[in-house]
Amino acid sequence: MHYGRSGALGQLEAWNKVNPHFYVKGDITGNVIFGLHVAFAAVITILGPLQLVDALRTRAPRFHRVSGRVYIASAFLVSVAGLYLTWVRGAVGGPVMAVAITMNGAIIFCCAAFTIRNAMQRKFAAHQQWAVHLYLGMSGVWFFRVFLMLWLMIWRAPVGFDPATFTGPLLTGLSVLVYILPQGIAAVYFHVRCNGSSLQRALFTGFLVLTALGIGLGSVAATLGMWMPRL
Ligand code: HEM
Repeated sequence: MHYGRSGALGQLEAWNKVNPHFYVKGDITGNVIFGLHVAFAAVITILGPLQLVDALRTRAPRFHRVSGRVYIASAFLVSVAGLYLTWVRGAVGGPVMAVAITMNGAIIFCCAAFTIRNAMQRKFAAHQQWAVHLYLGMSGVWFFRVFLMLWLMIWRAPVGFDPATFTGPLLTGLSVLVYILPQGIAAVYFHVRCNGSSLQRALFTGFLVLTALGIGLGSVAATLGMWMPRL
């Protein structure tokens, strides 16, 4: 809402309320790519959850197919724009963070390709699994913000990282946790769902409930502490 509204009103300087280098006077390419990045981010944020709603898939399969194509195309475009912002324009965080988010981009490319390929080959079980992997890959940057805000809510101070340079062990660990680990967790989920014993299912369910609780609390912290003040 913040980027879209100020973009539509031509007040691009307002982007710098979030970070002083999001709008750079004279850097037309960089500004356009940043604008496209956040525009596609909005598209995928709205369409992604809808793709996972069972009722919508069964009652409106045409919507699922069209919106799925838009989602996959946006996944590629948001990542290409993200790679430009990371490596050409330069972003906050050190080289470790740049490599970590690049791996996130690579995971997105890979999962998006397999999701659409399996759908076109009508291998729907495999399509569904890759779609979940893709959704988690696409949610990486959101997890990053949510878990960081949860951490700040718990400690009430920037423990484990330097807020001036946005580097430190906490951020390196968090990058692995949010960009890479969810792929392993999804693989375990599908294994437990298909072949797990009742104990394994109960343990995994407990883990998911705890994670959901953390995400819920982190979302409240991010909404109140980061997103609402920018509107
Ligand atoms: C796929 C889902 C993604 C979403 C929803 C998303 C969303 C956003 C948003 C909203 C911003 C503006 C900053 C903010 O308000 O927090 C942003 C900035 C940025 N994103 Fe993404 N992004 C995604 C993926 C990626 C990927 C895959 C990369 C890199 C390969 C990337 C790299 C960046 C960079 C470098 C910035 C600017 C940060 C800076 O200059 O310090 N993003 N993204």
